Amino acid sequence: MENEVHVWQIALDTLPPGRERILSASECDRMARFHFERDRGRYAASHAALRQILARYAGGEPAALEFTAGPGGKPALEPKMNPLGISFNLSHSGDLAMVAVARGRDVGVDVERIRGDIEALEIARRFFDPAEAAELAALAPDAADGAFFALWTRKEALLKARGLTLGEGLHHAPAEAAGYTVQGIDAPTGYAAAVAAAGSGWTLRTFQFSDKTSRP
Ligand SMILES: CC(C)(COP(=O)(O)OP(=O)(O)OC[C@H]1O[C@@H](n2cnc3c(N)ncnc32)[C@H](O)[C@@H]1OP(=O)(O)O)[C@@H](O)C(=O)NCCC(=O)NCCS
Repeated sequence: MENEVHVWQIALDTLPPGRERILSASECDRMARFHFERDRGRYAASHAALRQILARYAGGEPAALEFTAGPGGKPALEPKMNPLGISFNLSHSGDLAMVAVARGRDVGVDVERIRGDIEALEIARRFFDPAEAAELAALAPDAADGAFFALWTRKEALLKARGLTLGEGLHHAPAEAAGYTVQGIDAPTGYAAAVAAAGSGWTLRTFQFSDKTSRP
């Protein structure tokens, strides 16, 4: 898969409960800190699915995978269990999660539920590249929310590929950077999503995750 980037879509509400059994002690600690049962379930479902997906690429048992924190706290596979150089990134919003997987290149993914309760144009004016903010401002109001989140996910996917935080990378920078390629992802209705990866010329392949999904 050297010239491919794979993105797995995970419908968190369709997965059976009890998935915390394959999480590590620290993941269980993080899960327990969520106040609401629904958030604990989403955390367990997304991190268990992440383990199952990564095991298909890196080998080994999902529960045995170990993680380390890279630049900006970006999670990565522990080098000793990653001889193939698999890189990944996770994003979740509402009932949807996405996992991007690549080999030998940095990758970032972002998914967001499209909401109408934010000041999209004001956020764009304050934080986006001026040309992008002007394009959003010229749209009809009913198109602005979708366009804002499409652009937002492209920016955040790029930041996540580079291991930067929102605070470090958002200020008036365009949704592109030298050495990286960003692509929108066809997301379910009501969501926007994008993936970014180092280099150019890679092909995006998307998969739906279920417990029974075969290998890519
Ligand atoms: C990392 C960050 C870009 C994630 O954005 P988000 O829209 O909130 O969340 P997403 O669902 O897209 O991504 C979260 C996942 O990205 C991964 N991640 C964490 N840090 C990352 C980084 N620096 N780069 C790339 N990916 C990162 C993790 O897998 C995380 O999942 P988890 O929280 O379930 O473990 C953003 O939260 C950020 O800038 N954080 C740093 C600053 C911070 O911690 N602020 C806390 C509030 S003050």
